[in-house]
Amino acid sequence: MERRRIGATALEVGAIGLGCMPMHWAYTASQQSGEGALRTVHAALDAGVSLLDTADMYGPFTNELLVGRVLRQRRSEAFVSTKCGLLVGEQHIVANGRPGYVKRACDASLRRLQTDVIDLYQLHRPDPEVPVEETWGAMAELVAAGKVRALGWCAIGARTQRRSGAGLYDATVRQLERVQQVFPVSCVQAELSVWSREALDTLVPWCASRGVGLLAAMPLGNGFLSGTLTPGQGFEPEDIRARHPRFTAEMMAANQPIVAGLRRVGRRHGATAAQVALAWVLAQGRHVVPVPGTKKAQWAVQNAAAAELRLGEEDLAEIAALPRALGSWD
Ligand SMILES: NC(=O)c1ccc[n+]([C@@H]2O[C@H](COP(=O)([O-])OP(=O)(O)OC[C@H]3O[C@@H](n4cnc5c(N)ncnc54)[C@H](OP(=O)(O)O)[C@@H]3O)[C@@H](O)[C@H]2O)c1
Repeated sequence: MERRRIGATALEVGAIGLGCMPMHWAYTASQQSGEGALRTVHAALDAGVSLLDTADMYGPFTNELLVGRVLRQRRSEAFVSTKCGLLVGEQHIVANGRPGYVKRACDASLRRLQTDVIDLYQLHRPDPEVPVEETWGAMAELVAAGKVRALGWCAIGARTQRRSGAGLYDATVRQLERVQQVFPVSCVQAELSVWSREALDTLVPWCASRGVGLLAAMPLGNGFLSGTLTPGQGFEPEDIRARHPRFTAEMMAANQPIVAGLRRVGRRHGATAAQVALAWVLAQGRHVVPVPGTKKAQWAVQNAAAAELRLGEEDLAEIAALPRALGSWD
């Protein structure tokens, strides 16, 4: 598989990663958290994937434990990216960016991951109660201590920070500029897919100009872009798509032309809609690494194969002309 560099670091990963989240979090309806999930991670590594994206809060903790079982056997083949700064409470998820907490969280992640170093340690969400420089300074100390190789920033919470009239990632870029003064940001994780392209306006170019990598989260539009979900199929209450404005029966039906367009492009290449969706993300810049999430080994292998798919000018123009997605959080 093609290799891509994480920002300005010397660290390289397979161009397509594996998002481990669906095995224990957010897609609870069809959770597959036992041996099947283990097989999926192994299958991804066998297919040339190296970046395994997890977080302490997925589970909580069980997702890191699973990745740790794989790392114990195959540490040299894997690049582990995990996250800190969100705590799962009884009712709510809360941010904790206090320096002492961040350091304890890192030690706990290292234990669960059965490794002595985390390749990419990401701040899951900034804590509004703690100046970001303090949190980031504590994370920088983890690099100095040799527990972490590089630092990453998650911009997935950008919607909650947005001011009316402002671009989705304006506040994120301001925070990134602040923390860059403390310690280099090697990578930003943000939603980027054929149906969620806002990151292309400011964030993706900002990363390119600063030598920062971009991990594309939700590159398959939470599964929609694969074309395997049926409008009106319904989701278990715990599944994030049960509350997602694009996953009502009406919006799923209205957005079918996007899937049809991906299938059309795929037919020219003998590729699935999911593979075209991933190849489109790869085409957004050499600094971009998609991390499709799945619990199924066959899909992990299919997604990894998308790294071989090169979309041409005609393909990219056709995807650019697809209708904008309907169903908005705003
Ligand atoms: N930093 C953050 O706050 C944050 C937030 C969201 C996501 N992320 C990261 O980004 C990763 C990817 O996001 P995501 O998992 O939410 O969304 P995604 O990758 O867009 O889609 C995942 C969904 O697509 C399905 N799928 C995967 N490959 C498929 C294929 N080839 N054909 C058909 N369906 C397929 C999966 O089904 P199954 O589950 O049935 O396999 C899963 O339901 C996560 O795993 C996580 O690592 C980070």
